[in-house]
Amino acid sequence: MVKRIATNFVSSLNSLLSIIIATLCLIPSQTHSLTLKSDINSLREITHAIDPNSVAPYSYIHSWDFRVDPCESKGPQFLGILCDLPLDNSSSRITAIDLDGIGYEGFLTPAIGNLTELTILNINNNKFRGPIPETIGNLRKLTRLSVSDNFFTGVIPQEIGELKKLEYIDLSMNRFSGTIPYDMTSLRRLTYLSLSDNNLSGRIHNLTGLWQLDTLDISFNQFFGDLPNLPVSLRNVYFSHNIFSGHMTSLKNLIHLRWLDISNNRLSGAIERDILSLRRVIHLNVSFNRFTSMDVINYSGQRPQLHLLEAQGNNLRGNLPINLVSFTNLTIINLSNNQFHGLIPKEYGQKLRTLWRQLYLDHNFLTGKLPLEFTHTTTNVKVSLGNNCLKCPTNVTLCRGGQRPETECLGQHTI
Ligand SMILES: *[C@@H]1O[C@H](CO)[C@@H](O)[C@H](O)[C@H]1NC(C)=O
Ligand SMILES: *[C@@H]1O[C@H](CO)[C@@H](O)[C@H](O)[C@H]1NC(C)=O
Ligand SMILES: *[C@@H]1O[C@H](CO)[C@@H](O)[C@H](O)[C@H]1NC(C)=O
Ligand SMILES: *[C@@H]1O[C@H](CO)[C@@H](O)[C@H](O)[C@H]1NC(C)=O
Ligand SMILES: *[C@@H]1O[C@H](CO)[C@@H](O)[C@H](O)[C@H]1NC(C)=O
Ligand SMILES: *[C@@H]1O[C@H](CO)[C@@H](O)[C@H](O)[C@H]1NC(C)=O
Ligand SMILES: *[C@@H]1O[C@H](CO)[C@@H](O)[C@H](O)[C@H]1NC(C)=O
Ligand SMILES: *[C@@H]1O[C@H](CO)[C@@H](O)[C@H](O)[C@H]1NC(C)=O
Ligand SMILES: *[C@@H]1O[C@H](CO)[C@@H](O)[C@H](O)[C@H]1NC(C)=O
Repeated sequence: MVKRIATNFVSSLNSLLSIIIATLCLIPSQTHSLTLKSDINSLREITHAIDPNSVAPYSYIHSWDFRVDPCESKGPQFLGILCDLPLDNSSSRITAIDLDGIGYEGFLTPAIGNLTELTILNINNNKFRGPIPETIGNLRKLTRLSVSDNFFTGVIPQEIGELKKLEYIDLSMNRFSGTIPYDMTSLRRLTYLSLSDNNLSGRIHNLTGLWQLDTLDISFNQFFGDLPNLPVSLRNVYFSHNIFSGHMTSLKNLIHLRWLDISNNRLSGAIERDILSLRRVIHLNVSFNRFTSMDVINYSGQRPQLHLLEAQGNNLRGNLPINLVSFTNLTIINLSNNQFHGLIPKEYGQKLRTLWRQLYLDHNFLTGKLPLEFTHTTTNVKVSLGNNCLKCPTNVTLCRGGQRPETECLGQHTI
C-alpha cells in the first residue's frame, strides 16, 4: 500500500515536472519557431546509427551539432538538411535530408519515419547496410527517394507503394532481393524509377499504372518471363542483363521511346519493324539475345532518328538488311556474331563513304567479293569483317582478322 502511494506520488510529480518543462519549451517556440523536438530526436537517431569512425571531419554529419537548433543554426551546422516553417508558425520541420556521399557506414534508423514533413531523402554513395525500415511508409510527403550505391539488403518495403507523391525513386546498386512490390506499380506521379544492379527477380506483368514514367532502369537483376506492359510515356528503357524471354512486341506502342537497351536477355523471334521504325528512338541495343530475324523496311520517308543499332550476338539469319541504308541518322551498326549469309550489299559501301562511322560484320557467314567501296574507306571509319568467308585481299586493312574457309559458309543459304 505504502509502496503504491509512493509510486503515485512520484508519477504525479513526474507529470507536474513534464507540464512545467512543456510550458518552458512552449515559450521560446512562440517567438523563435524552434525545430520540432521529435524531428531533432530523429536526427539524433540517424547519427547514432552511423559508425562514428566513418564520419569524416568536414562531412555533413560531422557538422550536426545538437547544442544548436537544426533549423535555427546560422553557421555551418547541420549541413545536408533543409527546414520549413509551417503556415501556422508552429515548430519548424525537417523537409529534406540530402547527405554527402562520402562513405558513411551504418544503418538507416526506423526513426526516419518520424520526419513526416520530409520531401527529399537522398543518401547515395555511402555504405548503409541492412534493410530500408518499414517506417519509410510514414513519409507521405516524400517526392524523392534516393539510396543508390549502398549495401542495403532485404526486400523493397511494400510501404513505398503508399507514398503517392513520389516522383523519383533510385534504389540502384544495392543488394535488394525479392520482387517489385505490387503497390509500387501504381505511383501515378513517378517519372524516374531505377532498380538496377540488385538481386531482384520475378515476373513483372503490368507497369502501365506508372503513367507518367519517363525512365525505367531495371538492368542487372534476375527478372524473368515476358517483357511487361509498359506506360506509353516512357522515353528511356534499360532492361539489360536479366532473363526476360518471349518476343519484343509489347514495346511497339512506346511512341516516345528514345533509348532502348534490352541486351543480354533471352528474347527471341524478330527484331520487329514496328520497333525499328519508332520515330524517336536514337539508341537501340538488342545484342546478346536469341533473335532470329531483323525486319527492316525502307524508312526514307519517315525521318527516323536511329543513331546506333547494336544487334551483335544473336541468331540473325538471311541476307544483310539492305534497307538499313534508308535510315538517315544511323551511323553505328553492330551485326557481328550472327548468322548472316550472302554478299555484302554495295550500298553499304556507299554509306561508309558518307554517313556510317562504325560497321561491325565479323563472325557471320558472309561470302563473295568485298564491294569496291570498302577498299577506299577513309581512316575515320571503323569496320570489322573478320571470320566470314569473304574474298578479302589481305593487303586491305579492313580484312584483318582472317576469314574462314568458304565451305563453312555453305549450307547457311537454305535456312
Ligand atoms: C518516433 O515515433 C514513435 C511513435 O510515435 C515513437 O515511439 C518514437 O520514440 C519516435 N522516435 C523518435 C526518435 O522520436
Ligand atoms: C507568422 O509569422 C509572420 C511573421 O512573423 C506573420 O506575418 C504571420 O501573420 C504569422 N502567421 C500566423 C498564422 O500566425
Ligand atoms: C539473390 O536472391 C536469391 C533469391 O531470389 C537468393 O537465393 C540469393 O542468395 C541472393 N543472392 C545474393 C547475392 O544476395
Ligand atoms: C494494366 O493495368 C492497368 C491499370 O493499372 C489496367 O487499366 C490495364 O488494363 C492493365 N493491362 C493489362 C494488359 O493487364
Ligand atoms: C549493348 O549491350 C551490350 C551487352 O549488354 C554491351 O556490352 C554494349 O556495350 C552495349 N552497347 C552500347 C553502345 O551501349
Ligand atoms: C527507299 O524509298 C525511296 C523513295 O521513298 C527510294 O528513293 C529509295 O531508293 C528506296 N531505297 C531502298 C533501299 O529501297
Ligand atoms: C538526325 O539528323 C538530322 C539531319 O541531319 C539532324 O538535324 C538531327 O539532329 C539528327 N537527330 C539526332 C537525334 O541526332
Ligand atoms: C560491336 O561488336 C564488336 C565485335 O564484336 C565489338 O568489338 C564492338 O565494341 C561492338 N561495337 C559497339 C559500338 O559496341
Ligand atoms: C592489294 O594487292 C593487289 C594485288 O595483289 C593490288 O592489285 C591492289 O591494288 C592492292 N590493294 C591495296 C589497297 O593496296
